[in-house]
Amino acid sequence: MTNTTQNHESTDTDLGTPQSSAPLPAFVYATTRDWEGYFEATKGREPRQTLLDVLDTFDQDPLLQRCAIDLGCGEGRDTAEMLRRGWKVHAIDGHPDGIKRLISREDLGNPANLTMQLAPFEAVELPACDLLNASFSLPFCAPDHFDHLWAQIVEAIRPGGRFSGQLFGERDSWATIPDRSHHTRARIEQLLEPFCIEQLKEEEREGQDCDGIQKHWHVFHIIARKHAPGQHS
Ligand SMILES: C[S@@+](CC[C@H](N)C(=O)[O-])C[C@H]1O[C@@H](n2cnc3c(N)ncnc32)[C@H](O)[C@@H]1O
Repeated sequence: MTNTTQNHESTDTDLGTPQSSAPLPAFVYATTRDWEGYFEATKGREPRQTLLDVLDTFDQDPLLQRCAIDLGCGEGRDTAEMLRRGWKVHAIDGHPDGIKRLISREDLGNPANLTMQLAPFEAVELPACDLLNASFSLPFCAPDHFDHLWAQIVEAIRPGGRFSGQLFGERDSWATIPDRSHHTRARIEQLLEPFCIEQLKEEEREGQDCDGIQKHWHVFHIIARKHAPGQHS
């Protein structure tokens, strides 16, 4: 299933009224990598839609093992959902406040199924998994390390396993920030060649914070299943 959505407002892009004591919408903090501000602004938010969708897909297609990596887990909105649904989760983030907030969550389900790692994308080594979830985190990988990280992601996912998450397009406002990794649709399709694409939803729309600061969103919401050896799409 491949979808394209233009100018469609999605709750997935973290725009809108802050839900906690943080005074600004979450994207304002992410613009400058103020992760503590971002975690405060997104505290208590629901799991991402791509994560919910991919977990539902696995539910129809049961695996013997349910072992996930949450790459760029932040304060754990997706990690907590995976634990609730019986997955073992290895949660990775580069910011200590994210890991600290994750450990102190009260909704962790079975914490014995959780391992955590404080590591930058640029140096992390990924263990094998059935699901690699990376919600709104990969654009923050340094561009000269992105290809290496993506190769590791592909390698880590077992055949038949899935990737879920977002990549950002070249028309997104943040694409001009030198330390961000953004991609054209054609490049994203190339990156997804080792996978069967189950969802590729392109979202493009204008947003604005409460001070009128504009943000153009160009986001690809992705769910993809890794081919078995020798299998092609
Ligand atoms: C926009 S937040 C998304 C957090 C969470 N996945 C969510 O959906 O709310 C991006 C996350 O990536 C992490 N991050 C950003 N750059 C990173 C890097 N180079 N290495 C590791 N983590 C990084 C941040 O600490 C933050 O938790």
